[in-house]
Amino acid sequence: MRPALSVNNIVKYFHEPETIQVLKEISFAVQPGEFLALVGKSGSGKSTLLYLLSTMDTDYEGTIDINGTRLTGLKQNELARFRNEHIGFVFQFHYLLPEFSVLDNVMLPALKLGKLSPEQIRTKALELLYKLDIKGHENKKASRISGGQQQRVAIARALINDPAIIMGDEPTGNLDSKNTKVVFDIFRQLARESGQTIVAVTHDDEFAANCDRVIEMVDGKILAG
Ligand SMILES: Nc1ncnc2c1ncn2[C@@H]1O[C@H](COP(=O)(O)OP(=O)(O)O)[C@@H](O)[C@H]1O
Ligand SMILES: [Mg+2]
Repeated sequence: MRPALSVNNIVKYFHEPETIQVLKEISFAVQPGEFLALVGKSGSGKSTLLYLLSTMDTDYEGTIDINGTRLTGLKQNELARFRNEHIGFVFQFHYLLPEFSVLDNVMLPALKLGKLSPEQIRTKALELLYKLDIKGHENKKASRISGGQQQRVAIARALINDPAIIMGDEPTGNLDSKNTKVVFDIFRQLARESGQTIVAVTHDDEFAANCDRVIEMVDGKILAG
């Protein structure tokens, strides 16, 4: 089976304030439908790695492939398009547009992609919001709903373009245990039922223990996986 994500010999340096090697020959592959947890102490390089995987940072050595597409070396506009179409992101802080409605926040990435009509996108966004139990809030401003609801809206937004791979940097870092379970169960279901691949950085041992596989980072290297 072709891996959903394949990372080969990734090396990354930061040069400010001094040169440090943050990532040291990282290689691993993730299969379609796999739910992977990325764990490790603060400063071990998890966010840096996820930033590379999500194509936001292109300053590295080595190669990154997603679903058979070699992302390393693509131009910024090609990466932006690939990202919008194939990768969904969920962060610890949701980064919703506070003045826009819940529905508009979810619709935006699909409007930008332009594959469906606005009416189709609206229908799909509403279905996602209902699935994530956000019924009745779709016309509220994003700033006017609770933190747990905002995080679920951010997940709906990440899913609107049916990404093959969903990446989260501490997606439950800001949530109480009840909402953490809700988000975990959503990811679990996406991997199992839709074959979507999940890569999630987490500090939550219980969250990690229930994933399919755990990769631990220590000092810029992969310890186990
Ligand atoms: N933009 C940056 N410039 C310089 N150093 C950075 C930058 N971002 C992160 N670092 C350093 O890289 C290392 C890894 O950081 P990070 O990837 O954020 O770790 P984690 O997410 O595992 O806590 C740390 O030593 C951090 O200080
Ligand atoms: Mg981090």
